[in-house]
Amino acid sequence: MKQRIFSGIQPSGTLHIGNFLGAVKNWVALQEKYESIFCVVDLHAITVPQDPEELRQKTLELAKIYLAAGVNTQESTIFVQSQVPEHTELAWILNTITKISELERMTQFKDKAKEQHQNSNAGLFNYPVLMAADILLYDTNVVPVGEDQLQHVELARTLAKRFNQQFGETFVVPEPFVVKEGMRIMGLDDPSKKMSKSAASEFNYIALTDSPEKIREKIKRAVTDSGKNIRYADDKPAIKNLINIYSLLDNVKPEEVENIYKGKSYSEFKADLAEVIVDFLTNFQEKYDKIDDKDVLNLLNEGKEKAKKLAEKKMAEVREKVGFLM
Ligand code: AMP
Ligand code: TRP
Repeated sequence: MKQRIFSGIQPSGTLHIGNFLGAVKNWVALQEKYESIFCVVDLHAITVPQDPEELRQKTLELAKIYLAAGVNTQESTIFVQSQVPEHTELAWILNTITKISELERMTQFKDKAKEQHQNSNAGLFNYPVLMAADILLYDTNVVPVGEDQLQHVELARTLAKRFNQQFGETFVVPEPFVVKEGMRIMGLDDPSKKMSKSAASEFNYIALTDSPEKIREKIKRAVTDSGKNIRYADDKPAIKNLINIYSLLDNVKPEEVENIYKGKSYSEFKADLAEVIVDFLTNFQEKYDKIDDKDVLNLLNEGKEKAKKLAEKKMAEVREKVGFLM
């Protein structure tokens, strides 16, 4: 029997190549080997205020992005988190075995709470518990994510083990999956911080929707390191990041990129990198534009039914173990 992978992205903000290279690219690469479930996590998205109509729109758009990126729904399941209520039910139960101190240690919570100190809500605090529920509900073996989610996957592992110990063997203990070069794509305007949808400047990221002109402009303006050589090294974080992007999109090893550009200038390298990104995104956008909203809604409906079957079965087991009247 195939092992299972589960992952998700929030339908908020603008998706960028960091999301693609850190997460979705690996989903597509893994989907043949694993039974795959990819979720649009709208319940997570509302931990920061969303406009309802826009949220609905973004949910559909994100499902289309999964498809355009190459998720194959013949084999893989895509669905929307809020359409399977077992996620919130399991999250509640897991909340009761989660320590407040464990959640206080989560760096994403600390960062987000700092941004919106006064009205930081309880959903933001419990966010990692809902994510653990997403993962554990489906007996997930492997969770492909970017580096910023590793701490959350670790919590899911802790909660699985704790529940199993307290109530008997119930959950699979999941493993995270990251690819070193893509797990942390850095900001183009500041290579000391990760590329982020909520960055102040659009010159921080390449959005999946950027036009060729915009991509060329952004890469031209991307920060570089001191020196002249195209070197893949930790003391050259800006160039290292650009080499990683080139390497992952063009499927060549970072060392090969270094070789190709030996003796060449930053500007030559950047011009080529821009074209690698333009080629990739033009192709992606063509596929995206061809996808019909009605077809996506149908696929999400099918996905919901498949996910529901698995989730209902698992929750019945959980309710019984916890001691609820059957
Ligand atoms: P989010 O946008 O927070 O829903 O993240 C969606 C996925 O993209 C998660 O697996 C993240 O770990 C991943 N991700 C987000 N930003 C980056 C980045 N700068 N580099 C690599 N992966 C990222
Ligand atoms: N918290 C993840 C992020 O922001 C999204 C997410 C929610 C997720 N549930 C998940 C990722 C389950 C993997 C598995 O990126």
